[in-house]
Amino acid sequence: MLGSRVLLIIGGGIAAYRALELIRRLRERGCVVSTCLTRSGREFVTPLSISALSEQKVHLDLFDLTEESEMGHIELSRSADLIIVAPGTADIMSKMANGAANDLASTLLMATDKQILVAPAMNVRMWNHPSTRRNHDILVSDGVKFIGPNEGKMACGDYGPGRMSEPDEIADKAESILRQGPLNSIHAIITSGPTYEAIDPVRFIGNRSSGAQGSAIASALVRLGADVTFISGPGTVNYPDGVKVVTVETADEMFSAVNEALPAEVAIFVAAVSDWKIENVQRQKIKKSSRQTAPTLVLAENKDILSHVSNLKQNRPKLVIGFAAESENILENARTKRLKKGCDWIAANDVSVGSGVMGGNCNKVSLISEMNTENWPKMSKENVAKRLIEKILKHLN
Ligand SMILES: Cc1cc2nc3c(=O)[nH]c(=O)nc-3n(C[C@H](O)[C@H](O)[C@H](O)COP(=O)(O)O)c2cc1C
Repeated sequence: MLGSRVLLIIGGGIAAYRALELIRRLRERGCVVSTCLTRSGREFVTPLSISALSEQKVHLDLFDLTEESEMGHIELSRSADLIIVAPGTADIMSKMANGAANDLASTLLMATDKQILVAPAMNVRMWNHPSTRRNHDILVSDGVKFIGPNEGKMACGDYGPGRMSEPDEIADKAESILRQGPLNSIHAIITSGPTYEAIDPVRFIGNRSSGAQGSAIASALVRLGADVTFISGPGTVNYPDGVKVVTVETADEMFSAVNEALPAEVAIFVAAVSDWKIENVQRQKIKKSSRQTAPTLVLAENKDILSHVSNLKQNRPKLVIGFAAESENILENARTKRLKKGCDWIAANDVSVGSGVMGGNCNKVSLISEMNTENWPKMSKENVAKRLIEKILKHLN
């Protein structure tokens, strides 16, 4: 990001103090950071600390004649390569969605011809309020990018989504936007890792998926500038940088998370989702001592996420890709699966004993589309990701 110019708009929320750290993180990465502090923002952080960290004058008021003669508000909004709003308050989001321009921050946001990244931060009820949901959807369809909010304990004691993303996460996201890759305006959903289906409070049905393939694909997409929602079951690899992470445990949770993340241009279902869940999950740990015989587990079928998204009438991604883990008759089973689910491509991989794919570093994939089947040689999961992304790029252009 060396030399990139970022205009940071700091709204009036508790998380404003974290914007100070964000200035440092952006500057460490080589950005020149100019700032605008809202009137409410001044209740939380001082212009003095911001200017000390940014080594730039803080822009405060719309009607500041000296400033207009030095640098007008239009020029200020255009001279940046990227505008970041952090914390993005419910109020700023509402102004942006409704075209208000009644203070410096909202006027800069309306006058800009550059990309805008919002890092929302607010109480969970404010975030979930129908008006904020509406404003969020309007802004997404206007092309505004979002990072977070993250889920967690809030300053007010509530728990849920509303915490501002970490300064490093925001800086990563800014970096991926500034990189201006060929997938810059694309939203991609990736599911990754295993799912766990509870038997009782301590036991579960799971599988050996590590999340490495999903993570490699998400990283490759981020490198090309895509906006990635990474929905991950409890895998063992680190989450990729620069993505929006949504953590889930069960197939039902993954199903809901995918629906919430839509719309997207591309959806890649890499997760090894359990086909079945336990029908009657025991509330207490099943005890060996109280039983004469081994317990019988009654299974119920999980919702089929790939099939559901492939058959959506509204919001169906332009490209839906499923991964098929097969241990026998790989190509035949994967071709049947593609037709049955209605997805565009299936990446079939051999997970038979000894293949080392589940939990390993390499993968051997056959990519099956309506027209043909490509058999790729065994390669690292990173290279599988690169090759898949090349195909996606060609397909979308
Ligand atoms: C102590 C306190 C904390 C607040 N925290 C937030 C917050 O985290 N997010 C938010 O959207 N609004 C928060 N508000 C409300 C905003 O400050 C208020 O909506 C204000 O008008 C926002 O102005 P701005 O969007 O121009 O910065 C808070 C208010 C107070 C008094």
